[in-house]
Amino acid sequence: PKIWVLVPAAGTGSRMQSETPKQYLSLNGQPVLEHTLNVLLQTPQLAGVIVALGPEDERFGSLAVARDPRVQPIVGGRERADSVLAGLRYLAKRAASHDWVLVHDAARPCLTVSLLHSFCEKVASETEGGILAVPVADTLKWVEQSTIGRTVDRSHLWAAQTPQMFPLFTLTQALDAALTEGVPVTDEASAMEWAGHTVAVVPGAPGNIKITQPQDLALAALILRAQEE
Ligand code: C5P
Repeated sequence: PKIWVLVPAAGTGSRMQSETPKQYLSLNGQPVLEHTLNVLLQTPQLAGVIVALGPEDERFGSLAVARDPRVQPIVGGRERADSVLAGLRYLAKRAASHDWVLVHDAARPCLTVSLLHSFCEKVASETEGGILAVPVADTLKWVEQSTIGRTVDRSHLWAAQTPQMFPLFTLTQALDAALTEGVPVTDEASAMEWAGHTVAVVPGAPGNIKITQPQDLALAALILRAQEE
């Protein structure tokens, strides 16, 4: 089976306080999305990379990686899950029934090739897919009206990252059904869990951050530099 890579990159990055969407901000001299796609192009058994873009995106074409014939831009949707579903629908006519789909946020440029490879190898031996996640480090509080209700036991709590990889057909059905039913879907695994599938967890890396707030860009630059050493 082959692996199709699907990259939601249609966000506007409203939390970044920047005109430029975060996937196009410069990170060590290269746009964030360029970093992300260069790592993903090293996915084993790669069938192709689908990038979901905003309807008015005028920046993608100027990336060097846009000229790679394995990279295919499509138009995304209103929410992240809509962008992913748009990609899955695009793949429905092109993929084989037993292919996998690996979804990875455009805004996570610090994924390493070695973590990507070990993740793919581990999840390929699962039946219904898996995700990268890290145990939460902070003490967690349940808060209501600015006061602590209680401290939450964190021993079973992990923060989900991407990549997340699933059998393409199974994820398409689960996500389609979850969105139709109005289930809140903030990652692919949420739809898979809701549909009753077993999702494996592979330990991720604390450095595989999602660029969300303005200071994350400087942090990502440091993480990339440290990886080069
Ligand atoms: O905003 P957030 O950090 O959750 O976005 C995660 C990823 O989803 C980003 O790479 C963003 O570009 C993408 N996204 C998308 N379509 C949307 C919203 C976000 O592809 N409508």
